[in-house]
Amino acid sequence: MLDSNAFLPMLYASHDGHTIKIIDRLAMQLEAMGIDTLPIDLGRQTPDPELLKKARMVLVAAPIRFGYHLPPVEAFVRDNRSWLRGRLLTVISVNLTARKAGKNTPATNPYLRKWLWRHKLSPALAAVFGGRLDYSLCCWWEKRMIQLIMKITGGPTNLDAVVDYTDWDKVDALAFQIAGFYTRRQKMESEAPWQAANAS
Ligand SMILES: Cc1cc2nc3c(=O)[nH]c(=O)nc-3n(C[C@H](O)[C@H](O)[C@H](O)COP(=O)(O)O)c2cc1C
Repeated sequence: MLDSNAFLPMLYASHDGHTIKIIDRLAMQLEAMGIDTLPIDLGRQTPDPELLKKARMVLVAAPIRFGYHLPPVEAFVRDNRSWLRGRLLTVISVNLTARKAGKNTPATNPYLRKWLWRHKLSPALAAVFGGRLDYSLCCWWEKRMIQLIMKITGGPTNLDAVVDYTDWDKVDALAFQIAGFYTRRQKMESEAPWQAANAS
């Protein structure tokens, strides 16, 4: 029963399952470091606002599909941005653009930059991960579109191609960074609760 603030909600959506893999990996690493996680697929479940309010830290993650982060996460961020601005927050964007050097950091990835800018979010941690290319999961016109984008951007156009562009060491490094923020906040709450109450 989650009745304290000693857990980390991981709010995400995924169309083809790759973002779930990233969430699972982060959750596994965080659990190994003693942090209870609460993954919530916003495409299937609406989180209990009272439960979220108790969270010490929040993580939001979404992949890009046709230029936009998946609608359930986009809607959650839009509807809760004031609340998110006051939280210790991690934001993650997953997209194929991030496979390219020069577009693979929070400062250089256009999707993540625009997302944070649009909602005026300044998360404690932001990360961008290259997604997974798998033509077999696309319908015929999606295949053609992705193939065209790959042709223009120098990626694989062979319809048998399956490529995981995620740097899993970067995922593990993010888990350590999250754990660092989380435990510092935990310490502050026990040693200086008035300060923790005012910190975002
Ligand atoms: C139909 C389709 C459209 C996509 N559109 C974009 C896009 O506009 N920009 C981009 O960088 N990546 C795009 N991607 C890549 C996805 O973001 C990437 O495959 C990601 O790993 C998907 O995550 P998911 O498996 O959690 O849904 C697209 C992928 C698909 C299948």
